[in-house]
Amino acid sequence: MKKQLWNKGFQPDELIENFTVGRDRELDLRLARYDVQGSMAHIRMLREIGLLTQEELDTLLPALEEIAAEIERGEFRIEDGVEDVHSQVEFMLTDRLGDLGKKIHSGRSRNDQVLVDLKLFFRDELKRIAYAVELLFNRLLELSERHKDVLMPGYTHLQVAMPSSFGLWFGAYAESLVDDLQMVKAAYCIADQNPLGSAAGYGSSFPLDREMTTRLLGFADLHYNVVAAQMSRGKTERALAAAVAAVASTLGHLAMDVCMWMCGNFGFVSFPDELTTGSSIMPHKKNPDVFEIMRGKCNRLQALPNELALLTANLPLGYNRDLQLMKDIVFPATDELVDCLMTADFMLGQIRVKEGITDDVKYDYMFTVEDVNRLVLEGVPFRDAYRRIGEMVQRGEYKPTREVKHTHLGSIGNPANDRIRTKMENLLSGFNWEGYPAPGE
Ligand code: ARG
Repeated sequence: MKKQLWNKGFQPDELIENFTVGRDRELDLRLARYDVQGSMAHIRMLREIGLLTQEELDTLLPALEEIAAEIERGEFRIEDGVEDVHSQVEFMLTDRLGDLGKKIHSGRSRNDQVLVDLKLFFRDELKRIAYAVELLFNRLLELSERHKDVLMPGYTHLQVAMPSSFGLWFGAYAESLVDDLQMVKAAYCIADQNPLGSAAGYGSSFPLDREMTTRLLGFADLHYNVVAAQMSRGKTERALAAAVAAVASTLGHLAMDVCMWMCGNFGFVSFPDELTTGSSIMPHKKNPDVFEIMRGKCNRLQALPNELALLTANLPLGYNRDLQLMKDIVFPATDELVDCLMTADFMLGQIRVKEGITDDVKYDYMFTVEDVNRLVLEGVPFRDAYRRIGEMVQRGEYKPTREVKHTHLGSIGNPANDRIRTKMENLLSGFNWEGYPAPGE
């Protein structure tokens, strides 16, 4: 039996129904708890403006709480024949309370309902991402400190260039994550605005108290202009996608480095056997599949902003059903990113770095700039010193002193990890949120 909120006495064609509902019955489950929260705030406000009596509110709220509890217990389903989470909740209320259930939708449309659900959901998803970013950040900074003095070659053009260190390598990704978290914060701020009351996208003739629902739902502000509120569908997703892509770009890059450093020709890092994978034919193989999958996933995640841009490009102003499809793109992406971040943290917890890499003669030329600089300190003009060492290299007579003394801020000897940590702490304390969602939420 089909149940549509918009039933006007005819049954829509089955094919049309399936095509338009798409994956909503499954994806909307993630919005269920937020949908109920939104409804609670909405009906409290309806009571305030006289569209519900206190008695009605006192009947509706416990019924919604009961549905919320069913959601938390994992018992909530969107029945076959019901389009989406918004319809399911309203039908459940009507089944349980009769005509009173039909009153809650005054001054509201599914357009602002899904918007408010999404904004509440995205806030939590962005918190989850921030939590996982912070976790990996701490891991990287700890590794940077621990391996501060272990030298490794630095490359440009993938040719041996200058001395670098594991301290710099790990710390570089930690600091990069701080920039990415700025994007997460920006996306969070955009999501943290109440769209409720915009209804179908043009407001309502009821005197809705939008500041009240903003307060009740804990939004930092509201999207005042009802048309802007509707426009924020898509815009919010694109901001979130930019943040996801930024983190993914950093993590994908790190995954590539690990794959390369694990290659036998480098052999800079290794992992315990049980964290590697094997080959069905070559008995010696210990492969970096984890970091390859991570690299691939992170590369795919970077397509997210493009996918959303193409999906929403040039849509006419106001609600269009195309917007529904963003859920298919965005929902799996945040899970994927958090999974990659947590896996990276787990793997790096067991990484082993090789000491003494740069003692190998194949890295001798990595020290040429150190020796040029030494001559400069002895009073030789830089260009002459450069030429002198260059000619020694040409004649095959260059012997490195292997002494590396970098002291400036952010260099091998002074990676400024405390400053990087302060940057992160300042950023995190600027978020308008009360902690992270509980694990598993
Ligand atoms: N499933 C819809 C979506 O995600 C809910 C809003 C439906 N609104 C409508 N006018 N058909 O966009």
